Amino acid sequence: MKGLILSGGKGTRLYPLTYTRAKQLIPVANKPVLVRVIEAIREADVTEIGVVIGGSTAQEIRDTLGDGSQWDVKLTFIHQPSPDGLAHAVKISQDFLQDDPFVMFLGDNVIQGGISNLIRDFATNEWNSQIVLKEVPNASSYGVAKLRPDGSIEQLIEKPKNPPSNLALVGIYMFDAHIFEAVHAIKPSPRGEYEITDAIQWLIENKYQVFPHVHQGWWIDTGKPNDMLEANSLVLDELKPLIAPDAIIENSVVDPRVTVQAGAKIINSTVRGPSIIGEHTVIENSYIGPFTSIYHHVVIQQCEIERSIILEESELSDIHDPILRDSLIGRKVNVQRGGDKPRGLKMNLGDNSRVLI
Ligand code: DAU
Repeated sequence: MKGLILSGGKGTRLYPLTYTRAKQLIPVANKPVLVRVIEAIREADVTEIGVVIGGSTAQEIRDTLGDGSQWDVKLTFIHQPSPDGLAHAVKISQDFLQDDPFVMFLGDNVIQGGISNLIRDFATNEWNSQIVLKEVPNASSYGVAKLRPDGSIEQLIEKPKNPPSNLALVGIYMFDAHIFEAVHAIKPSPRGEYEITDAIQWLIENKYQVFPHVHQGWWIDTGKPNDMLEANSLVLDELKPLIAPDAIIENSVVDPRVTVQAGAKIINSTVRGPSIIGEHTVIENSYIGPFTSIYHHVVIQQCEIERSIILEESELSDIHDPILRDSLIGRKVNVQRGGDKPRGLKMNLGDNSRVLI
């Protein structure tokens, strides 16, 4: 069994953060989503993994992941010349995958409970493919499956306006080599992409066995800012808290569900969990509330923050009235209260930034 991670594409729904960074590298509970995907595949004992990259984020992803030895896996990067769809990504990976069965994992998906059971089920059955479904309230944002009363798949449709069910396709798929017949047979969809949904529909129509597993835990496609915050909350909730031996905590109240990473300093502050304070980050005279991830080398002084993600090397001071909440703050961002009169808001925001006052 091999692994295939898809991390090409543009990430436009996460602008402005994704102007300068691959969306798959944005951290959830201080670990990039893409690294969580590698760890989930490794945990299922799959160690030979292809990573599809493309466009302006390709080099950053290569530099971050290296050869994979850090996670005890062997990574092969596969360059996709343009983001022509998930089935196109499979097509260009054929040389790497050869005739081996493989698990394909979208590099922006986070799932509860890992994939070991799914891989074991696929290995012990005669299925040509296994897909993962999850009941969602907004099925039109995803690929959608319509099942027959006996549980078999009747139809798969990509992002339908009027979804025939509330079962979304999770970005985790298992295939044997017959998928290559499908990806070569299908035509681009109206949005111009070779859809994996159409390729799986082709397998079904050609009498190949596709098993639909309905996932019971949580699953997040981290496509939009609120999805990132939601994934962050869910992962933090399950994180085993740890205080690094060299972290400094002075005159502060730190809840037992807080992780404090190496070299961090918490001074005159209250930190409630679940939350995580990154390496060499300084929190001073502040309140950090539940479901907050503060990445490395951040400085926070006189602030009150809840349910937010703050990325590396940012500096926030005197932001407490009102409290900063439900926010996603990028790298090297500086937010402070100006003392000058007349008082007012001064902003220097990148393209596609969003501010709610
Ligand atoms: O997350 C689940 C959904 O993922 C499924 O329900 C949909 O059926 C499936 O089409 C997909 O929809 P998205 O619109 O979320 O796909 P997105 O364009 O965000 O791409 C998913 C990942 O694949 C992302 O990490 C980028 C990568 N990708 C995407 C395309 C289009 C590639 O590597 N190459 C590509 O050509």
